[in-house]
Amino acid sequence: MATVTSTETQKLPISVQADPQPTEEKPVEAKPKIRRQIDEESDNPVPATYPHYLPVWDHGVKYPPFELYEHIDKGKGADPSFKDLLTEGSKLQHLTPTTGSEVTGVQLSKLSDAGKDQLALLVAQRKVVAFRNQDLADLPLTEPVALGSHFGRLHIHPTSPTPEGHPELLIVHRNVNTSEFDFFLANRNSGVGWHSDVSFEKQPPATTFLYALDVPGVGGDTAFVNQVEAYNRLSPAFKERLHGLKALHSGIEQVEFSRKRGGIVKREGVTSEHPIVRTHPATGEKALFVNKGFTRRIVGFKDEESEALLNFLYDHIGRGIDYQARVKWAPGTVVIWDNRVTSHSAIVDWTTGERRHLARITPQGEVPFETPYVPESK
Ligand SMILES: [Fe+2]
Repeated sequence: MATVTSTETQKLPISVQADPQPTEEKPVEAKPKIRRQIDEESDNPVPATYPHYLPVWDHGVKYPPFELYEHIDKGKGADPSFKDLLTEGSKLQHLTPTTGSEVTGVQLSKLSDAGKDQLALLVAQRKVVAFRNQDLADLPLTEPVALGSHFGRLHIHPTSPTPEGHPELLIVHRNVNTSEFDFFLANRNSGVGWHSDVSFEKQPPATTFLYALDVPGVGGDTAFVNQVEAYNRLSPAFKERLHGLKALHSGIEQVEFSRKRGGIVKREGVTSEHPIVRTHPATGEKALFVNKGFTRRIVGFKDEESEALLNFLYDHIGRGIDYQARVKWAPGTVVIWDNRVTSHSAIVDWTTGERRHLARITPQGEVPFETPYVPESK
């Protein structure tokens, strides 16, 4: 049986949803249920390399709504020479001209604070950076959490499981064989679902980490789209019209979906209104900030107007392979993206039954803001 977690669950067929439980009507005083993936591993022929990272669904864990906090972006004012990050022996290679890079010869767990600040700036500039041969997964779980904390307050996801005792780590875990793959695509042509993580929060994530635990030999890549470049491709008149517009983002459906399926709900769903064009605090770049996963409508537009404009933007973002990058996972890989200026999609394309097991650390950023449209010089 496939196990599916993470924000991707909202679009998956019922039979592969995480944690199906038919006992929703239990009395309130019932003992909280805890489901542990480790207890369901007996029929898995290949043990998890990092069993302490396997997901745990604890129905007893509840959190209050997030309160606003002051986010100071670490990339702002960081040294653009990257001298404390890209030290001697390191290598930076770009995946495409505008989007995505790979780095070797750097150990993230050993970075100085200056190096971490430069990391935030590099990721903001390149949108997504894959670091190879990292030791993060082999360290005590407190260490990746401490690393992520440098970049902002760590988000705790409302419906996703965690390793026991580490709520700041979000676990993505899935095995896919041929029959599950066929079922996944039974009512769709492609499994691609572009989204920016938890954009419904008042302070959506900024510099976001995802690191490999077990990954398929081939397949299960993650695709990223550069939404600064997507903005840049628009005509001046169209850009100008988008400025000043806000969109409603909602996490309510995800929470209700989990609740209906007997999944966990750690925090109630929220909605937020964010500018459609947001400005990055460190680079000053403007980016489209809508995604099909969580954006619901344009504030102040009638239904048909909102739908037409959002669908244009989703199509524009999704088809722009000339401003996208695709990252291939490998053991030891840590992928870091700037969630404010990108969307991403998992690629569910492997049928081998291999485990895809990843951990996410999700520092929250500032309340999204916009700066005025600036006419382009001719
Ligand atoms: Fe995601």
